[in-house]
Amino acid sequence: MAKEVKTIGVLTSGGDAPGMNAAIRSVVRVALARGLKVKGIRRGYQGLLNEDIFDMNAHDVSDIIQRGGTILGTARCLEFKTPEGQQKGADICRKHGIDGIVVIGGDGSYRGAQALSRLGINTIGLPGTIDLDISCTDYTIGFDTSVNTAMQAIDRVKDTSSSHERCSIIEVMGRNAGYIALWCGIANGAEDILLPEKYDFDEQKIINNIILSRKKGKTHHLIINAEGIGHSASMARRIEAATGIETRATILGYMQRGGSPTAKDRYYASIMGARAVDILIQGKTNRVVGYRGGQFMDVDIEEGLAMTKSIDEYEFEVSRLLSI
Ligand code: ADP
Ligand code: F6P
Repeated sequence: MAKEVKTIGVLTSGGDAPGMNAAIRSVVRVALARGLKVKGIRRGYQGLLNEDIFDMNAHDVSDIIQRGGTILGTARCLEFKTPEGQQKGADICRKHGIDGIVVIGGDGSYRGAQALSRLGINTIGLPGTIDLDISCTDYTIGFDTSVNTAMQAIDRVKDTSSSHERCSIIEVMGRNAGYIALWCGIANGAEDILLPEKYDFDEQKIINNIILSRKKGKTHHLIINAEGIGHSASMARRIEAATGIETRATILGYMQRGGSPTAKDRYYASIMGARAVDILIQGKTNRVVGYRGGQFMDVDIEEGLAMTKSIDEYEFEVSRLLSI
């Protein structure tokens, strides 16, 4: 028989993402509407181990849907990677009467969720990361806001770059994943897009490309570089030395992770948050909520973590064709 869940906890973990607040709001309000009690856990798994836990009511999540960041705070917690830390976390949940938890974060956070689930605390993950790099879902909360923020910033850099007839390297976030870079590359009309999944480190090819586009009369040359490749400043110096064209590097950094979430992020976060609560009520555990093939869905965490996804070959090819 499915374990009855009466009190759920909610926490955000790993890097924050715009839309996390919309997800928290949805978890709290749907749980309350379904007759459950809700406890907020501050600062991710670290807050759980510190018993930084408080009762949440509908008012606690008023006026947050439009705010970036996470009202619960987030943290990275090494202790929770240990069996002792995980056991302590499960014991603390029991002490506070928490029999289900919604964890909003990325793959690392799901491993913590798996551990809690194994220790008898029903746990559901929600995909919260700007990187879009969670394989079991086509969509992650925060990506849309982040890519729009980056796109608008790049438009501005492109304006001044064209006026000065410069080459610009703009570094966007994504340590292991090039989704933000690919989307900005297409949306901003970049001449070169360097993705961790694809880049062959052939700088001479980029240099030849810049010289060619200058010969064609282009006044700018925009290179979108993903954080995972990095070294934008030294790349700019080498390109300037090789081409004689003034080259500047701009690292967009954390501005891409903040700001008011787009309608899409608020909407997906709201539906996903509700689904997490409803599957907890059904007695499900050890699952990640996602969006795949045009539908909201949930998948076993083990299965989800074993999946892989990468940059779509056709979309990457199109990005190359459009840059000519
Ligand atoms: P993300 O969730 O965005 O992938 P991290 O990889 O930094 O971010 O993970 C967030 C937190 O999840 C970690 O600080 C840690 O507390 C917890 N975590 C990560 N990996 C594990 C693991 N293997 N076992 C238990 N907890 C983990
Ligand atoms: O996962 C989101 C992300 O912003 C990545 O793009 C980036 O590499 C990383 O987080 C940076 O994390 P930190 O907050 O530890 O600097």
